[in-house]
Amino acid sequence: MKHSLNDSLLKLGEERKPPAEEQAIAGIAKLQTDIMKATNPHLRGQHPKAHGCVEAEFTVLPDIPKALQVGVFQYPKTYKAIIRFSNGKSASDLDPDVHGMAIKVFGIKGKKALPADDSDVQDFILIDNEVFFASDAESLLGFMMARVAAQKNPNAVKEFMEKSEHNARTVALAQKALKKELPSPLAVPYWSTVPYKFGEGAVKYSVKPAESNQVAMPQPPSENYLRDAMIEHLTKQQKQAVFDFYVQVQTDAETMPIEDPTVVWTSLEVKVATIQIAPQNFNTPEHNKRCEESSFTPWHALEVHRPLGGINRARKPVYEASSVLRHQQVS
Ligand code: HEM
Repeated sequence: MKHSLNDSLLKLGEERKPPAEEQAIAGIAKLQTDIMKATNPHLRGQHPKAHGCVEAEFTVLPDIPKALQVGVFQYPKTYKAIIRFSNGKSASDLDPDVHGMAIKVFGIKGKKALPADDSDVQDFILIDNEVFFASDAESLLGFMMARVAAQKNPNAVKEFMEKSEHNARTVALAQKALKKELPSPLAVPYWSTVPYKFGEGAVKYSVKPAESNQVAMPQPPSENYLRDAMIEHLTKQQKQAVFDFYVQVQTDAETMPIEDPTVVWTSLEVKVATIQIAPQNFNTPEHNKRCEESSFTPWHALEVHRPLGGINRARKPVYEASSVLRHQQVS
């Protein structure tokens, strides 16, 4: 596993860019847009299927530790938010997959991570797996290329795995991230997997559902049962859904690396906010259109919450290209 990328001691929150990263990122961006161009209409390059976009409130708690009163979390306040729940890849909810929870909080003032960003939003993007499967941009590109090659050569992924232990681990982690049984998008925990700046330090984010969000698996589940579960909860039963939002502070730069999101951090998670999703009818043509047209990216962030690490650096051009390509076709 590659933790420190050269010999000098790592500081907390410090990024270390590997030498060939830029070429790898360019390769990922090209592959990702090629994949999108093959679909008509062009949907999101990843997480194309939404289960719904809901309106929510994001409440920063009072009495959070002083060191964590940073940026969005500087003082207690309730913000308006929207949340898009999604599948990673699959059109059918019956297929094992990663699931996404993308939160957009409105009304956030302050210096942004991207100078051109004049919006008032802070996005938090999470999946229902504690780690990301690829340690860095180069490993991700190798894996993506093997997947593309597998369309013509059924042994391509096996050949990629046989090249190194690192490749074999990447494929194993990608498979392990695919969850089979998920009763509802409202009933599971989510993690950022990758780190973010938090003032002077660094954190990962996570979100955990309240006990009252739990439901049983539908029997038998249908291809769209995850949207149906949200409709049942929020619209038919008129029940609210609640999540707690946590930050996990990096306390050791070597064992909780910035540049390798395949490693689980072991520090405590601290609750800093709650998310309330009130009963609502989100499954309307207008809501669904707004959901499709929305763009979430980890780079919609305050400078004090800037995305960190190679996978986040790779996401900058890729999410932008994906969003531009999607919006070109509707304009
Ligand atoms: C370099 C690695 C990654 C690449 C190339 C990538 C690629 C993409 C792309 C192209 C989109 C669609 C963007 C759009 O059209 O608006 C997307 C969405 C998404 N990605 Fe990633 N991603 C990466 C890493 C991650 C990581 C580490 C997470 C973990 C939280 C993640 C979670 C998501 C989620 C939840 C969405 C859906 C956002 C929405 O609802 O609009 N991705 N990704």
